[in-house]
Amino acid sequence: MITPFHLNGKTVLITGASSGIGAVAAKHISEMGGKVILHGRNLGKLEAVAETCAEGSCRIIVSDILTPEGRTALAKSTASLDGFVNCVGTVHPFPVRFLDQKKMDETLDINYEAPVLLTAELLKNKKFNKESSLIYLSSVSSARPQRGASMYGSSKAAIEAFVKVLAQELSIQQIRVNAIAPAMVKTPMYDRAEALVTKEEMDNHISKYLLGVGYPEDVANAIVFMLSPASRWITGTTMIMDGGLLL
Ligand SMILES: NC(=O)c1ccc[n+]([C@@H]2O[C@H](COP(=O)([O-])OP(=O)(O)OC[C@H]3O[C@@H](n4cnc5c(N)ncnc54)[C@H](OP(=O)(O)O)[C@@H]3O)[C@@H](O)[C@H]2O)c1
Repeated sequence: MITPFHLNGKTVLITGASSGIGAVAAKHISEMGGKVILHGRNLGKLEAVAETCAEGSCRIIVSDILTPEGRTALAKSTASLDGFVNCVGTVHPFPVRFLDQKKMDETLDINYEAPVLLTAELLKNKKFNKESSLIYLSSVSSARPQRGASMYGSSKAAIEAFVKVLAQELSIQQIRVNAIAPAMVKTPMYDRAEALVTKEEMDNHISKYLLGVGYPEDVANAIVFMLSPASRWITGTTMIMDGGLLL
């Protein structure tokens, strides 16, 4: 049997490829036969990720997708795509009483606006091949918000709503659009979150994960599946990956 779980002949753009889930996804995609376009804002970090990937599988594009110029530059210079994995994201927890416009923008600009406007730019430039697969990293915070995560949870809920609309609009070209919503995954983002709470609070939270916390490899495997022909009938969904947290 020819496996449908491969990425042979596919070109995949990853935003936020310089760290954590995006970096490991790049490695897995290249090992499954795909070509990867690593996007980020730090050339040195992207070069280090390319070193971990299959030889000759990566191309690097540096631009700032928070600006219209950066998004246009990326959309124009990328090759035609069979896959898009949006991994950029940030988390800045604080109670709502401290919210102001600057704090709101700090999270929503990179978690929601930049990926959405970049998607529009890629569509305008006709960069997605027929039967492409688009994946947006959400979070269980959209369904199980935590105190302090009003902006983070809102940005992820908004991305999930966007995914459902885009899945409808692109279905005519057999293009699939899905979100992946992990709970806590051991990446630099996890380490930054851990530094903001007491050990007791962290231990208490982690004790609720029936299968323990996740690793970037767990999410990268799901990304490979969602990019591959094996998931050809799945669109407009959010795949929750939480080690049993929400049970
Ligand atoms: N780790 C978790 O527990 C967890 C759980 C649920 C969902 N997620 C989601 O999964 C995705 C990947 O997270 P991760 O854990 O892999 O985090 P990470 O290791 O911190 O990586 C985040 C990526 O986003 C980029 N980024 C952040 N702010 C940016 C900005 N203002 N402009 C451009 N790029 C920016 C970073 O680029 P630099 O390297 O240049 O900083 C990096 O490539 C995020 O969307 C996150 O919300 C993570």
